[in-house]
Amino acid sequence: MTPARVYDYADISAPAKQSASCRDLISVQDFSPDEISALLALTQSVKDRPASYRRALLGKQLVLFFEKASLRTRITFEAGMASLGGTSIFVDQTQSRLHEREPLCDVAHNVERWVDAVVLRTFEHETIVEMARYSAIPVINALSDLEHPCQAFADFFTLQEKFGDLRNIHLAYIGDGNNMAHSLMLAAASLGSKMTLACPTGYLPHPEITDAALAIAARTGAEISIMQDPVAAVTGADAVYTDVWASMGQEDEAAERATIFAPYQVNQQLFAHAPGAIFMHCLPAHRGMEVTADVLDSSRSIAFDQAENRLHVQKAILLTLLGGDARRGPSRSHHA
Ligand code: CP
Ligand code: NVA
Repeated sequence: MTPARVYDYADISAPAKQSASCRDLISVQDFSPDEISALLALTQSVKDRPASYRRALLGKQLVLFFEKASLRTRITFEAGMASLGGTSIFVDQTQSRLHEREPLCDVAHNVERWVDAVVLRTFEHETIVEMARYSAIPVINALSDLEHPCQAFADFFTLQEKFGDLRNIHLAYIGDGNNMAHSLMLAAASLGSKMTLACPTGYLPHPEITDAALAIAARTGAEISIMQDPVAAVTGADAVYTDVWASMGQEDEAAERATIFAPYQVNQQLFAHAPGAIFMHCLPAHRGMEVTADVLDSSRSIAFDQAENRLHVQKAILLTLLGGDARRGPSRSHHA
C-alpha cells in the first residue's frame, strides 16, 4: 500500500509575503468564513449581471503557469479574465517544472514587474507557496497536490444555488483524501456545513488539514467527520461527491489504487443510500472507476453546473484579489 504523503505543513501553510498590500489564494484558509461568504455573494452578482463587470479589470494582465493538464481551470480563468476586460498569458509548463530553468524567487521577481497576478497549477504545493513568498502580486492556486481552492469555492457556490443555506446541507465525499477532499473539507468547515468523508485506510486527508478544518468547524458550527464506510458517509447526504482515485502525478499508482478504491465507487447501489441526493464531481471523471456512467450521466448529477460555476467564481476571485469594481470600473493598474 502506498504510504500517506507526508508534508511539512508548518513550512507550506504560512507564506511570508513580502508585500502586505496584496493577498493570495493558495489555500481555502486564506479566506475567512466571512470572506468566503462575500466571495459567493459576489459570484452571484457576476453570474447575474456579467455585463456590469465588462471593464472591471480593464488593462490588468494575468499569467498562468501550468505544470499539469487542464480543460476547465485554464479556459475559465482565460475566459473570465477576458470577460472582465483583462488579458491572460498562458505558459505551458507541462514539459519542465517552473523552477528548473531558474530559481522560483527569480521567476517571481520577473513576473511581478510585468503582470498583475499569477495563476499556478503545480505538482508540489510548495511551488505555489514559494511563488507567493517572493511575488509582490497576488498568486492563485489553480490546483496543487495539496489543495484546489477555486474548485471548492465553485462547488459550494453550486450547492448554495441548489439548496440555499449552506449551514443546512450535508455533503458526503467518497474516495481519496486528496487535494479536492482537503479544499472541500476546509470550505465546508468555513461555511458551517455538515461533511462526511469516507476514505480507505492509508488515503485519509492530511491530518493537519483535518485538524485545521476541525478548528474552523468549532467556530462556525460545521460538522466534519471522517470514516471508512462509504454507506455510513452517504446516508442522509444531500450531495455525494467523488474525485479520481489517482490524481495527476499518481498515474503509476493507478492499478494499485483501482483495487483499493473499488469499494468506494459511487454507483447506483451506494447512491441508493442517499435517496434524493445530487451527485457532484470536479471532473475529469472516469466512468466505471470512481463513478458509474449511470450516476454521472443521470439527472441527479450537477457536474456540469459545477464546471460552469468555475467561470463565475474565478471572476469573483480575480475581482477580489485585483480590486475591480463593477460601478467604478477598473482600479489603477499596477502595470502600463
Ligand atoms: N476540475 C478541474 O480543475 O478541471 P481541469 O483539470 O480540467 O482544469
Ligand atoms: N484530484 C484531481 C483533481 C483534478 C481536478 C487531481 O489532482 O488530478
